[in-house]
Amino acid sequence: MFKGLQQKWKVNGWQLLLIISTFALGGSLCGYTGRRVLQLMDIDSPWFRVILYIIIITLLWPLCVIVVSIPLGQFKFFLIYIQKIGRRVFGKKVGITENVGRRAMADDQKNEDAETRSTSNGQRSTVKHIAIFASGTGTNAQAIINHFKNSSSVKIALIISNKPDAGVLKITEKENIPSIIIDKEKFFRGNAYVDELKEKKIDFIVLAGFLWKIPSALIKAYPNKIINIHPALLPKYGGKGMYGHHVHETVIVNKEKESGITIHFVDELYDHGSIIFQATCSIDENDTADILAGKIHKLEHENFPRVIEEVVKKAASYEL
Ligand code: GRF
Repeated sequence: MFKGLQQKWKVNGWQLLLIISTFALGGSLCGYTGRRVLQLMDIDSPWFRVILYIIIITLLWPLCVIVVSIPLGQFKFFLIYIQKIGRRVFGKKVGITENVGRRAMADDQKNEDAETRSTSNGQRSTVKHIAIFASGTGTNAQAIINHFKNSSSVKIALIISNKPDAGVLKITEKENIPSIIIDKEKFFRGNAYVDELKEKKIDFIVLAGFLWKIPSALIKAYPNKIINIHPALLPKYGGKGMYGHHVHETVIVNKEKESGITIHFVDELYDHGSIIFQATCSIDENDTADILAGKIHKLEHENFPRVIEEVVKKAASYEL
């Protein structure tokens, strides 16, 4: 649970402790002050007292938490936190920081883990950063890059490949996207590039033709935030060794009447995580593995970017 909070708020363990302490002390201060205020009011009706107490502590809570956050060095975090709650409740910025926090808000604007921009309706939207892992020619990566090129909510921030000569790396140069070539030892026995991904504020990982198994360190750091595309209708034709042409050849040899694509979340097993989307295509009698690969690629390019966008939007709507 604590790890989850650390990831959600993008803080280290020490800061998380201070934040939890602020919640606890702020809550206690709020309860205490609420009771004192109530005593001063001298109200007889127990029901009215309860209702009034709830109203008082609701109003006092942000103030108490902000006050406690100052000596604990968490002022900025709580300022942002309360603003977010304010936006949720009132649908716009709350006034509490209008004067006091203008500078902190400007800092926050720069430093907040994911960038924020204004949308046409005046609300703030968070820009989600995606890293694409790819080892092939990168046609899917290109389709995804194209799809989000003018997006105000999603940015393709990093391309990661395990092959120094992969076609996808030419795309990164052309599109001016930073890239990393994986060191196998570090990927499987080190921190699986979690630090680098966090440093680049990566929110989601998209596997677009990446053949290596994803280490559990990475899965734990990005739960339900790693999306893979598989060129067949899982659970059929998945698992170790089932990639690229091997899939299409097996499908053809088995005389299947249809194949398709599966977009799914990544878990610790090959081609196993929960399925987000599938689309099918028919296989004609004379279709070869190459022809089938063409049909599958078309389906992938048509659907993968759109499905990624839906997943990102849905996840963002659950966040604070
Ligand atoms: C795609 O067919 C995808 O389903 C699979 O790898 C292939 C990558 O193709 N995981 P490309 O490099 O994007 O063209």
